[in-house]
Amino acid sequence: MQLDVFLKQVSLNHALNVLIWHAAQAGIEIAALVKQGALQGVTEKMTSTNVQGETQMHLDIRSHEVALEQLRASAVVAAVLSEEEEEPIVFETVDAPFLVSMDPLDGSSNLAINGVVGSIFSVLPNTGVTTQGSQAFLQPGQAQRAALYVMYGPATLLVLTIGQGTHVFTLDHESGTFELTQQNVEIPPETSEYAINASNQRYWQPAMKRYIEECLQGADGARGRDFNMRWCASMVMDVHRILTRGGVFLYPRDSKQPVKAGRLRLLYEANPMSLLVAQAGGESIDGLEDVLALQPTSCHQRVPVLLGSRQEIQRLREYHQQATE
Ligand code: F6P
Repeated sequence: MQLDVFLKQVSLNHALNVLIWHAAQAGIEIAALVKQGALQGVTEKMTSTNVQGETQMHLDIRSHEVALEQLRASAVVAAVLSEEEEEPIVFETVDAPFLVSMDPLDGSSNLAINGVVGSIFSVLPNTGVTTQGSQAFLQPGQAQRAALYVMYGPATLLVLTIGQGTHVFTLDHESGTFELTQQNVEIPPETSEYAINASNQRYWQPAMKRYIEECLQGADGARGRDFNMRWCASMVMDVHRILTRGGVFLYPRDSKQPVKAGRLRLLYEANPMSLLVAQAGGESIDGLEDVLALQPTSCHQRVPVLLGSRQEIQRLREYHQQATE
C-alpha cells in the first residue's frame, strides 16, 4: 500500500497527511543526492560550521534546502527549526497548523565512508509562532503530532508514527513511491544488545558505568547472560536496528564537556526518535525522566538519551534512581 493511501486510511487530518507527503518527497530527493556520492561532490566538507560548531558537509546544506522547499510548498507549515540554522525559519503561512523541527541529514560524517545517514522530522502543533522568536517550538515531545525519519541505506526507508503505531515504508525507486512494508513495529521488550560510544566511558556517571560493566561481565556477572555491542555513529541507523530487532541505544550524560548535558538534540533527534520508539512499545529516558515529558528550554538543547527495549530502559532508570538516593 502506498504512503498516501495508507495516510488516507488512518488519518482524517488532511493537513497532516499533506505535510507527511511533502516530507517524504524531500526524502526521495535527498536519497537521489546521497546516491550520487562523490559524483555530486556530496562528500565534500564546507569551511562553515553549524550552530553546534560542527563542520557542515555540502550535502547537509543541500538537504536543508530541499526539505525546507518541500515543507514550504506544503502550505501547512508555519515555521521550521533546522539543525543547520540558529533561528527558526518562519514562512509566509505563519498561521498554518504545524511547526516542524528537523535534522535534514543526521550522521552526515558517515558520508565520507559511504555509511548510512538519514533525515529526521518532528511535527508540532503551531501554538502561535511569530517572526520574533523560537518560543513556539519549546513544546514537550508528547505534543508531537507526528515523527518520521527517512533512512538512506541499501534501501531507502521511511519510518513514521502519527501516534497510532510505528510503520515502515520502502521506496520503490522505479515508481518513486513509498510502499508500506511493515505495519505496527514491535520492539522486543527484552534484549542482549546495546549501542554506546564506549570511548567516553571515563566521563559517564556511576549508573551508566555500572550498567555497561554488568553487560561486559556477561554470563559471568550479575546479568547471567552475554551481551553484544553495536555502534553505527548514525542515530537513524542505530534506532532502526532497535526497531527491527530490539536493543538499547545509549548516549548518556557525561562530563566530557560539562556545558552539554548530552550529545543529541532534544527537538529534532531525541523527541522524534523517542516517539517512534514509544509507539513501537519501547521506552526513552534521559536517565530519570521520560524524554517525551521534558520541557525544552532552548531550540538546540542537548539531552542524554537512553532508548529501546522496555525492560532494559526500566533497569537503567532504576540504576539512575538508586544513584540519586
Ligand atoms: O548527533 C549526530 C550523531 O551523528 C548521531 O547521529 C550519532 O548517534 C552520534 O552523533 C554519534 O556520536 P559519536 O561521534 O560520539 O559516535
